[in-house]
Amino acid sequence: MDKLEVELRSFEPNDKYECHTLFRRGMMEVIPSLYAIEVKGYLKCALFLVPVIALTLTWSLRDVIVLLCLCAIIAALVYIHIYFTMTRFIHHSLSDDLQDVAKVYQDGSCMFVAVLNGAIVGMAGVLHNDQHKPGHAEVLRMSVNPSIRKRGIATKLLKAIEHFCNDNNYTKLTLKTTSGQYAAMALYEKNGFKEIRRQQPAFFVHFIKQVMYEKMLTQRI
Ligand SMILES: CC(C)(COP(=O)(O)OP(=O)(O)OC[C@H]1O[C@@H](n2cnc3c(N)ncnc32)[C@H](O)[C@@H]1OP(=O)(O)O)[C@@H](O)C(=O)NCCC(=O)NCCS
Repeated sequence: MDKLEVELRSFEPNDKYECHTLFRRGMMEVIPSLYAIEVKGYLKCALFLVPVIALTLTWSLRDVIVLLCLCAIIAALVYIHIYFTMTRFIHHSLSDDLQDVAKVYQDGSCMFVAVLNGAIVGMAGVLHNDQHKPGHAEVLRMSVNPSIRKRGIATKLLKAIEHFCNDNNYTKLTLKTTSGQYAAMALYEKNGFKEIRRQQPAFFVHFIKQVMYEKMLTQRI
């Protein structure tokens, strides 16, 4: 598909509502793929239990119904857990840095927005604060409107972030995503980010991993 010519600029106070909506939408849509990872993990574990279950059950109709109900309850609990974890994360983000973007993303940090026909269709922040090492900055809050994905908007936002980093003499960009955000991982890898570590996030269940990326910024682009 053709690349879209969007205008990039830094966040303005009036953008808050649109950015919140865009961020919330992007995060909520990740839930099904996170759920699929967890369910696949549980199914693999269940395969090991099949012989035990097969031996202990008499396979009466009652046994089968109980087993199916148990599976349905576990599946529902996993979904509820992921759903609430994501909504908690979104709520935390909206009341944290996204609550006062202009204040948090200033002096060496910036929130970029992509504008098309007057509407905000993409956002991504670059943050450097006292939690980052000198010369290091972090990419976060990346989201693009689903109706115009795969048209180069996120790539353009990343390029703007790298220019910003060059201007601020940052030498390394870092970011975190999850193993369920396939589009995001492909985007970052295509743009030269290297996966450095996977870890189990404290806030998630067993099979979803938090994936850390970094990119060394050695040359002016
Ligand atoms: C990840 C996201 C920001 C990508 O935005 P985008 O504007 O569609 O990305 P681009 O058009 O710049 O894509 C650049 C490259 O990323 C990869 N990519 C993007 N979307 C992809 C998808 N759905 N599947 C596979 N690869 C994908 C491709 O390599 C693509 O290059 P190509 O178009 O030449 O194949 C968008 O899908 C999104 O908002 N997702 C939900 C929120 C999210 O997960 N944010 C990341 C937080 S860490």
